[in-house]
Amino acid sequence: MATSSDQQVRPIFTDKEHYFKALTHFTSKSDNLEVIQSWVDSEDFGPAILDKMELLLKSPEDELRMLGVGSGSGDMELIFLKKLLTRLMNIEACVLEPCRDLISKYQDLVDANEKDLEGIEYEWRQQSLEEYGQTCRYFEEGPKFHFISVVHSIYYVNELESALKLLHGMLEPGGALLITIVTEDTGLGLIWKTFPDLVQPTAEEGAASGCPTSRPNHRRNSTQVKEALNKLKIEYTSYNYTVRTDIGSCLEDQSTPESHLVLDFLAHTVNFHESAPEKLQEDFLKCLKEKCVELKDGISYFLNKMDVFVIYG
Ligand SMILES: C[S@@+](CC[C@H](N)C(=O)[O-])C[C@H]1O[C@@H](n2cnc3c(N)ncnc32)[C@H](O)[C@@H]1O
Repeated sequence: MATSSDQQVRPIFTDKEHYFKALTHFTSKSDNLEVIQSWVDSEDFGPAILDKMELLLKSPEDELRMLGVGSGSGDMELIFLKKLLTRLMNIEACVLEPCRDLISKYQDLVDANEKDLEGIEYEWRQQSLEEYGQTCRYFEEGPKFHFISVVHSIYYVNELESALKLLHGMLEPGGALLITIVTEDTGLGLIWKTFPDLVQPTAEEGAASGCPTSRPNHRRNSTQVKEALNKLKIEYTSYNYTVRTDIGSCLEDQSTPESHLVLDFLAHTVNFHESAPEKLQEDFLKCLKEKCVELKDGISYFLNKMDVFVIYG
């Protein structure tokens, strides 16, 4: 197992602007949106989510309350929202997203899709799940939601069990919580398992970033979610899909700005190419090439197998 005890590589969340750039570049190379779209159009999503939402609300005019956790630039959430609008007319969507640039991007996307999103009222909150959880405690009973979407963001919560408990407690009876997360043995899950000490932020760095998600152990996988749900005795149904990201140019040449962004996203670091020791960089690339990549039509794809958990309130 590779270790990096003698080096100082900064975690990516200590620089939210850099996280924004690296995430945006990485997702532009992936088929994430197409894959989620076909999952939402598949036979799974209708019975698991749409039918349940219709049952929960007395009529299509009743308002559905949705919470997005770590909504990012909103592309994923719009897929869910547009699908919900095929059956329901009014949605109140609360967006929790700690990164300001991502909220702005989501707001631009909403403006650009105004016509397709008629019936949706947005509440924007630049907050982490933990910060929102604290706010809820001020109310006698926190707000409850019919649908909560946590797509690729449960990785970063401080305490997995408390986060799951909090999310489950925010569901209306009969409401649905959808969590997607990478499996332990593919893609980011595999990298985080192989290089557990990749980043070692000091407490000061974490505090200075103003981001509660900058501690090193925020690299979760679906096995940990399963274990936590079992421990909490929360029942779930699970589905899966695979996301592919073209990282071919990064594997060929690590000296370009684009390759730096890809490496930073994969390692969840800032300036991996400058700050990581040479040996660590070699091991990291070797792991990418040998364990994380699938060659298809001459293109090297980084493979993330994802688990989707659906939990009812
Ligand atoms: C990989 S991105 C996924 C974004 C979006 N859901 C998507 O699938 O495109 C993870 C998101 O979680 C957000 N995030 C990080 N820590 C968080 C926390 N503690 N609570 C809520 N969101 C968080 C990040 O800012 C980022 O937007």
